[in-house]
Amino acid sequence: MNEKQADPAVEKKPMTRVEEIVNARNFTRTNIITLLRSEGADMQFLINEALQEKLSRIGNEIHLRGLIEYSNVCRKNCLYCGLRRDSKQHPYVLSDEDVLKCAQLAVASHYGSVAIQCGERTDREFTDKIESLVRQIKQLSDGKLGITLSCGEQTREVYARWREAGAHRYLLRIETSNRELYYRIHPNDPQHSFEQRLACLDYLKELDYQTGTGVMVGLPTQSVENLADDILYFQAQDFAMIGLGPYIPHPQTPLWEKREIIPSPEARLHLTLKVLAVTRLMMPEINMVAATAMQTLDPLGREKAVVAGANVIMPNLTPTEYREGYFIYPDKACVKDKPEDCNSCLDARMQMIGHKILYNSWGDSKAYLKKIGLKE
Ligand code: 5AD
Ligand code: SF4
Ligand code: FES
Repeated sequence: MNEKQADPAVEKKPMTRVEEIVNARNFTRTNIITLLRSEGADMQFLINEALQEKLSRIGNEIHLRGLIEYSNVCRKNCLYCGLRRDSKQHPYVLSDEDVLKCAQLAVASHYGSVAIQCGERTDREFTDKIESLVRQIKQLSDGKLGITLSCGEQTREVYARWREAGAHRYLLRIETSNRELYYRIHPNDPQHSFEQRLACLDYLKELDYQTGTGVMVGLPTQSVENLADDILYFQAQDFAMIGLGPYIPHPQTPLWEKREIIPSPEARLHLTLKVLAVTRLMMPEINMVAATAMQTLDPLGREKAVVAGANVIMPNLTPTEYREGYFIYPDKACVKDKPEDCNSCLDARMQMIGHKILYNSWGDSKAYLKKIGLKE
């Protein structure tokens, strides 16, 4: 070993550009682009630095959000998503009883938080229902379960009602921060307005939600420049959480036609890991989700996301018989599993990579806690 240390050839090996940028934490747009283009040993270096940054700033704890896929009914027609209005899926809405059973299971499994996700609806029946479910979940858990909502674009008033009912986090992905690309993956009509999406994210922050956003990685015609801008957007807007994942083409959607022009599954996996790593380095104290879609590209996709900087996992609580109805993209993980299966499975998976699951805690991000501390 001493011999190796003394070896001048090893000592003098010049730093690569990627090593220089990461070591200096010099995240200009051009430098981010260089990082996103890194491969091989450089990519490994980037990911390892992101892991070390995470461990030193927020530790090796993984926060859980038990996922309740409440309904696949959606009023929108996003060109990439299996829940779009024109899809031929059999519609379902969980009963109150089913939702409360999921919440009960979260309590029994010592998850500190649940996340309600669904297609977007804005009718009064729906917005009242979500409000009532939030109240019921709060009640049944004695206020102990944290509640994240991910129910799309709503009016400020609806967001305020849900916040008042007890939801304290909201996840609304911007999907891409590039306006032109946004309109290439959404119908160009007032119902799919980029400006409205930005406005919704502002409302959520104003209402003191712990607000999260994110993008899809590997979309048709998306460039590394676009992704660098996405990361700069996350930072400039100071989001408390990020949930980003790879794009997975869905055969029953219009964007399927463009599948030939997207990067290979392996390239999308690597690109997503690099986006996660750079985001972690630039926003060391936020919460960042290891997306389930990672597991579609690689059986160890979520673990790889955690090693690249993610610290949140969303085990699925949806009753097994409804899971196939929530067909956002093909080959979703855990579709055939029972909610209980995920518990022991996740513990083992996280242990394998030197992480540990934090039970019975809301798992707020350090970034958010600091922010409210400053405010008070
Ligand atoms: N591949 C990956 N993610 C998708 N989403 C929708 N369709 C796809 C797809 N084909 C994500 C979007 C959306 C969330 C509901 O699911 O980012 O915000
Ligand atoms: Fe509906 Fe969301 Fe899917 Fe768009 S991405 S179709 S809003 S569920
Ligand atoms: Fe769901 Fe492993 S995480 S079965």
